[in-house]
Amino acid sequence: HGTSTINSQGHLEIGGVDATELAAQYGTPLYVMDEGLIRQRCQEFMQAFRLSGLRFQVAYASKAFCVMAMCRIAQEEGLSLDVVSDGELYTAIQAGFPVERIHFHGNNKTPQEIDMAIDAGIGCIVVDNFVELQMLNAIAGEKGKTVNILLRITPGVEAHTHEYISTGQTDSKFGFDLGNGSAFRAVQEASELSNLSLLGVHSHIGSQIFEVEGFKMATDKVALFAAEVRNKLKVVFKVINLGGGFGIRYMEGDTPLPVSQYVKAITDAIKHNFAAQDYPLPEIWVEPGRSIVGDSGTTLYTVGTHKDIPGVRKYVSVDGGMTDNPRPALYDATYEAMLANRATEPNAEIVSIAGKCCESGDMLIWDVNLPNVESGDLLAVSCTGAYNYAMASNYNRIRKPAVVFVQNGQADVVIKRESFQDIVANDVIPERLKMVTS
Ligand code: LLP
Repeated sequence: HGTSTINSQGHLEIGGVDATELAAQYGTPLYVMDEGLIRQRCQEFMQAFRLSGLRFQVAYASKAFCVMAMCRIAQEEGLSLDVVSDGELYTAIQAGFPVERIHFHGNNKTPQEIDMAIDAGIGCIVVDNFVELQMLNAIAGEKGKTVNILLRITPGVEAHTHEYISTGQTDSKFGFDLGNGSAFRAVQEASELSNLSLLGVHSHIGSQIFEVEGFKMATDKVALFAAEVRNKLKVVFKVINLGGGFGIRYMEGDTPLPVSQYVKAITDAIKHNFAAQDYPLPEIWVEPGRSIVGDSGTTLYTVGTHKDIPGVRKYVSVDGGMTDNPRPALYDATYEAMLANRATEPNAEIVSIAGKCCESGDMLIWDVNLPNVESGDLLAVSCTGAYNYAMASNYNRIRKPAVVFVQNGQADVVIKRESFQDIVANDVIPERLKMVTS
């Protein structure tokens, strides 16, 4: 991947830095992010949109990996930012991200989150339901402000990675349904609320999608809806947001398309649909998360114990697990791995990689082909940049790993490894328990 290579010592090298040196200097488990590759992915989106000639924003879906250094990179590369909580918003603001380029999502934004967003000067709030619509208008009114909004609609296109289900009505907690008329009513209501400025609509069909059909189907449906709304309500959408979900290659057999092809499919579908209706071409927004940071990440682990069950399986345990990568346990996600310290040695055995948490489900990889694994080896699991650090936990009171960015032979810590003090930082022993003796 990207700028990963194998150096003359037979070690994995990421961004010009030897993985064994990273492990020695920063310890393991360690999240290593290839900054050059992150920037390359950002540029691929920006470049593909520029080629389309349409006005656009590429909003990095920060939920995939939201840390201040990443916000800086997104900003430098000219991206906007999608946040879904006060914590992500706070991170972006602390990083100095231009707030007018932040979009706020979520199906249950609290009044406090809305306050915070409006006070900060949020660029756009993606309104999810009727309750929020009214609440947002009221809060904006109290503040004497007008807030830009998109309405999240459920287009009735659902992507299950490879397959799409096109339904009249979708059973989802998100958004206004297109099929049952609630999206139409939402536009009507929103356009009558005086403290809201309705820019357009938003649709997100799923995640880790490989084919373009789903995006095309969603674009077609949104365009039909735009036409209906213009005819019946005289409301014209200036912005169409088509969400994220662009797939990446976790495994050898995965076949995502280059970023440029997803963007071209979307922008072509927009041009085709809107031009056909003589509709002023809207600005197109997308929200990639995984496809910006996913393949840039590698997690380094130190191999510890192993357990060989003859004729059944060999379990090889590493010093991390579901606390730093819950995706295999949660989604049956699969990963590839290699020995970073013996990268040129031929594979010799099929083993399963276990984490160190006290539960059987804490497996990182079932069946991976590796050289004969020994205690002390450095295992590198690839494609861990998205939804790994972001979803990490302190289960078993395990400290969260550090995150380093590597680029041009240089490594920089962007998240420090948690300390034991961090682990107990929010623990409080009530007075009445302080005197307890056994
Ligand atoms: N926009 C919206 C409204 C979303 O809900 C999401 C992801 C994205 C954009 C970014 O999607 P992406 O480009 O990253 O596929 N934790 C799961 C993924 C959950 C995705 C949730 N929404 C995982 O680890 O696979």
